[in-house]
Amino acid sequence: MTGPLHARLIRRIAAEGPLTVADFMAAALLDPRDGYYTRATPLGDESGRGGDFVTAPELTQVFGELLGLWCLEAWQRLGAPPHFKLVELGPGRGSLMSDVLRSLALIPGCRAAAEIHLVEVSPRLRAMQRDRLRGAKVTWHRGIATLPAGFAVILANEFLDALPIRQFEKTPQGWRERLVVRDGAGGLTFALSGTLPSGLLDAPDAATGAILEHCSAATAVAEALAERFRGSPGAALFIDYGYATRPWKGSLQAVAGHRKVPALSDPGCADLSALVDFFALGQAAERAGARVHGPVTQAALLQALGIEERSAGLQHGKSPEVARAIAAACRRLIAPGGMGESFLAISLEAPGLESPAGFPLA
Ligand SMILES: C[S@@+](CC[C@H](N)C(=O)[O-])C[C@H]1O[C@@H](n2cnc3c(N)ncnc32)[C@H](O)[C@@H]1O
Repeated sequence: MTGPLHARLIRRIAAEGPLTVADFMAAALLDPRDGYYTRATPLGDESGRGGDFVTAPELTQVFGELLGLWCLEAWQRLGAPPHFKLVELGPGRGSLMSDVLRSLALIPGCRAAAEIHLVEVSPRLRAMQRDRLRGAKVTWHRGIATLPAGFAVILANEFLDALPIRQFEKTPQGWRERLVVRDGAGGLTFALSGTLPSGLLDAPDAATGAILEHCSAATAVAEALAERFRGSPGAALFIDYGYATRPWKGSLQAVAGHRKVPALSDPGCADLSALVDFFALGQAAERAGARVHGPVTQAALLQALGIEERSAGLQHGKSPEVARAIAAACRRLIAPGGMGESFLAISLEAPGLESPAGFPLA
């Protein structure tokens, strides 16, 4: 049994021809009726039950609290303005923002100066965010284009990995695009395009069989922020799983019920994501005039922000069982070979600001 979007995509391909992987991802995630982020509860229900995957802010409050310290310090680097936009892209259940706000309250002037703006497409997640942030004044947006001007501190955890990517494969005959087509049995499968326009891809060193992924939506976010920072100074921190050097492998993955599932089997019913190309993101931001710091590993960032100290502080006075759970969650965030290294952090900033906390001095 497949969901309704599967049948609709089969009909769409019959009428309009093959989809790019980006078209497929956009439909599977964002279709206004049957898309994953329209209908699912990716991170579980109000009490945290169910869901398809878990993210750092859902593992422990320490993650959001440390990013809150980063925001506090960014606000100070901006000159501690009396008003600034505190923006989160893809805020999930609102847990990260709620933990960030606790840290901002360490300096009352900072919490009072923060106007919260959330960029979120999912109606279900918006409802959870409203609930979680009850008492705070929040403005929601569907995209970054409607964010008001002014000083801004911007956070995004596991947001870029949800943006649609195109995939290209190097064949003995040259580069081809991976497309989604109908198979002979009423399902969806991958196929390769014909010849691509020359000069579309600039990757002469790639070996036959290499796959190159390109996320124009992520590049557009980097460029738009760089552009924004020219008139409205700000600092943005992105954390995601990704790479700084191209792996030349496809990274599209689908997850449902905490398990990997085939990417094309049931669009709208599984989360789809792809590794973030941090090199491309940084280059796009830099070309558009932003100052780029990193990427660094998540472990390096969280250690510099004081994860060990905060973990110990939070364990203090707790039962041995609770203290062990806090320590384990914090260890997981910085685990070598795990989240500590597979997640990277990059900061895109207005030129002229001092280096951000957690990144080596540029
Ligand atoms: C993987 S979840 C991460 C949630 C949260 N940041 C966390 O760490 O728990 C991705 C988030 O981005 C949102 N999202 C996905 N695609 C989006 C898009 N194109 N525009 C705005 N929000 C999007 C989702 O609804 C969700 O809130």
